[in-house]
Amino acid sequence: MTAKPAGRASILVIDDDISIGVFFAELFAGQYDVTVANSGEEGFRRFQEAEPQVVLLDVRLPDISGVDVLERIKKTSPPHPSVIMITANRDVESAVRAMKLGAFDYLLKPFGSNEELAVVVEKAVDDRRLRVEVRTLRHEVQQFYSPDNLIGKSPLMKSVQDRIEKVLDNDITVLIRGDSGTGKEMVARAIHYGSRRADRPFVTLNCAAIPENLLENELFGHEKGAFTGAIQFRKGKFETADTGTLFLDEIGALDYNLQAKLLRALQEREVERVGGTRPITVDVRIISATSRNLEEALRQGKFRDDLFYRINVMTITIPPLRDRREDIPLLANHFLKKHAPRLGREAHEFSQAAMQKLLGYSWPGNVRELEHTIERAIIYSEGALVLPDFIELTEIAAASGAAAAASDACGAPMSSLDVAEKTAVQDALNRTACNISRAAEILGITRKTLRAKMVKYGIQKGTETGSAEPSA
Ligand SMILES: Nc1ncnc2c1ncn2[C@@H]1O[C@H](COP(=O)(O)OP(=O)(O)OP(=O)(O)O)[C@@H](O)[C@H]1O
Ligand SMILES: [Mg+2]
Repeated sequence: MTAKPAGRASILVIDDDISIGVFFAELFAGQYDVTVANSGEEGFRRFQEAEPQVVLLDVRLPDISGVDVLERIKKTSPPHPSVIMITANRDVESAVRAMKLGAFDYLLKPFGSNEELAVVVEKAVDDRRLRVEVRTLRHEVQQFYSPDNLIGKSPLMKSVQDRIEKVLDNDITVLIRGDSGTGKEMVARAIHYGSRRADRPFVTLNCAAIPENLLENELFGHEKGAFTGAIQFRKGKFETADTGTLFLDEIGALDYNLQAKLLRALQEREVERVGGTRPITVDVRIISATSRNLEEALRQGKFRDDLFYRINVMTITIPPLRDRREDIPLLANHFLKKHAPRLGREAHEFSQAAMQKLLGYSWPGNVRELEHTIERAIIYSEGALVLPDFIELTEIAAASGAAAAASDACGAPMSSLDVAEKTAVQDALNRTACNISRAAEILGITRKTLRAKMVKYGIQKGTETGSAEPSA
């Protein structure tokens, strides 16, 4: 075959009427590469050789029918060509069957004007190009959000990854918990794109971001005329997510009355549009997330316990970043690699002191705060190395961390590595209400080592500031 110009689409005409092949070859000579075949078998063989974008396929062929050829084409691995059936009036039924099998369009013989033919074929070329683009993008998204791309090697993150692994092959309803910026949405996407629903829609609804009176409409959609301004029907997120996953973010913010409606939808697996009279069946996997304390909301009667149990079949809790400091260098380097090229900077390494600064901070805004901090550092950076001065930490948290950690038990100034270590020890103790065993576990050191560090930095069990007398 001669090399074809880049971007030029190829078209295969399968018709036993030789004049039809000649006609299309001449009509599209300047625009497309046209191949012609005169029987079904030959046509299918040529299709496999040439992988055309569009096939013009006669319904009536001498050996096998055009519909059979179409079926065979559809059984090959995608992306498939756009198939336009060529049919005479008497064969319209076959053309209709072909449309049901996924043909793109059909042309009635005798053909209309050349312009009309050109438009149909152009649309078919576009359709195939768009399908290929969607496939490529979907593949990229799937790669991007794959569970393998969740950064973190700490034992706590490993256990998150283990739990994700457990819910990939089933449709279990998952509740993701974690402070702001810990990666809840990222985990929700990892579950969806790692599951058998990966090719289906992933739809997000942030229950905290939408006014209460609009939320029901968002979730369930409405019928035409359901309320003033409802000039046409609109699908809700449930219906849009059909066969895919619905991610209900900040579910703790959901209004109490709507909670009952959501529960019904989950139990019955059907929804009713606002103003609607008939239920619509939906097949949706639900993943919810919350940064709020739902148990507290249950106690206060703000969250329904029946809904809580329904959405909480499996919980994945993402620990705050300060409890998994081993992940900080991994994440920081990941964000550096991700953002430096985008921001047009050479920076590709942290100086030791810069890394210590990152390790010493408590990251109240978790991974999101770390990512933004790295983006800012990249912008400030001039060469290959990211220096501590480029790392701008939020004042409130930085002040508390630095002030408390500036001197050791004897009042001597500390190195930045010591500062980092002291902050980590304090954080671990604060988070475990000074439980030495648990704090040592979080830090990955023995209780004895932890006690020695507490003495070194003048941290007393039972104090949060670490400024009191050291305890042995
Ligand atoms: N383990 C991780 N690996 C790589 N990137 C991560 C990881 N966790 C979080 N991120 C990144 O951090 C940012 C915040 O994550 P995400 O939006 O998922 O957090 P969230 O818990 O949903 O936050 P919020 O509670 O504020 O909605 C995103 O840019 C995400 O890509
Ligand atoms: Mg989120």
